[in-house]
Amino acid sequence: MNETSPETQVLGFLWRRRRRMPMPLEALVTNARAMLSDRDGDFVEVLESLRDEGVVLETGEGWSLPRSAHDRARAAMREAVSVGYSRGAARLVGSDAHRRYVRAVYGWDVPSLNMMGPTQRQMLKARCALRPAHRFLDLGCNTGGITSWLAVESGAVGVGVDLAASAIEMARGLPGRLSFDVQDMDELELPAEAFDVVVAVDTLYFPDNLAATLLAVFASLKPGGRLVASYSCYRNDRGSDDELTLSGSGFGRALPDGVQAEWEEVTELGREAWGRKLAALAELKAAFAAEGLHDLWLSRQRESETLAGVYDRGWARRYLVTAVKPG
Ligand SMILES: C[S@@+](CC[C@H](N)C(=O)[O-])C[C@H]1O[C@@H](n2cnc3c(N)ncnc32)[C@H](O)[C@@H]1O
Repeated sequence: MNETSPETQVLGFLWRRRRRMPMPLEALVTNARAMLSDRDGDFVEVLESLRDEGVVLETGEGWSLPRSAHDRARAAMREAVSVGYSRGAARLVGSDAHRRYVRAVYGWDVPSLNMMGPTQRQMLKARCALRPAHRFLDLGCNTGGITSWLAVESGAVGVGVDLAASAIEMARGLPGRLSFDVQDMDELELPAEAFDVVVAVDTLYFPDNLAATLLAVFASLKPGGRLVASYSCYRNDRGSDDELTLSGSGFGRALPDGVQAEWEEVTELGREAWGRKLAALAELKAAFAAEGLHDLWLSRQRESETLAGVYDRGWARRYLVTAVKPG
């Protein structure tokens, strides 16, 4: 499947915001402008048609998703993530503009979708401390760049999982002792006590039930094994600074009992990564357009503008976390 319908895209977008609903129309439109640039022209129209069908609710307090729409919206989000990440990855293969973008932002030639420049990447590798005898899992690995890099650098055996089937297809054949599998982080099927390390690079925002995902992750770790994650916390004008602390964040609250977590704040490096993205996008706008990739350029530009703005307001904090399973 290569495309998702406008309704599926909008419903999937609403699902990710359901906990903040009801939301006023202006807030939804501003959010959609940054995160759903495909639907620039018709977002409100699609929203209204979903309301007319009774899928979405509009009241004096704003827009929301009634319980009856939850299953459909959840499935829409899954489809939008899977198709969106697959389609993006496939279209960028062989693109010179994208190769230059990746080099400028990430300091290497490996396709990446995270918020980690070279410094954070080295810090992540140090936290993993992989050795040739180790097995590790890369959760939400996309096209497997980080998986392959960690495996080649350490000699360890790596397994990558992601919901985006074509991204996983592209990962197969990368160098390293590797295997890849299409899996949903909300329905993980993992061998028990099999991994020394689980890596999660900017992926723990996606599970519907992060506590259940983390239980599955820790069950798959050997005793004494570690989860190493990069994770950013955000707040908005209605939130509080408590949401910016790791313990007040969705991640901190979802960690299983008995797990010891230790973290380092890397907010400045996170801000720098968005700054690098904006600078590279400004320089490469024409190059993306010349390759027929203006839409992908635009969605990155909007996302980067929004996130750099969130950092500038002091509404973001970024962490590298190591959480150890009791031995
Ligand atoms: C921000 S990207 C990070 C990709 C990769 N870790 C990297 O560093 O480039 C998030 C990834 O999570 C995947 N993802 C989102 N929801 C998922 C889910 N429910 N199960 C598995 N993977 C998911 C996406 O397909 C995407 O590849």
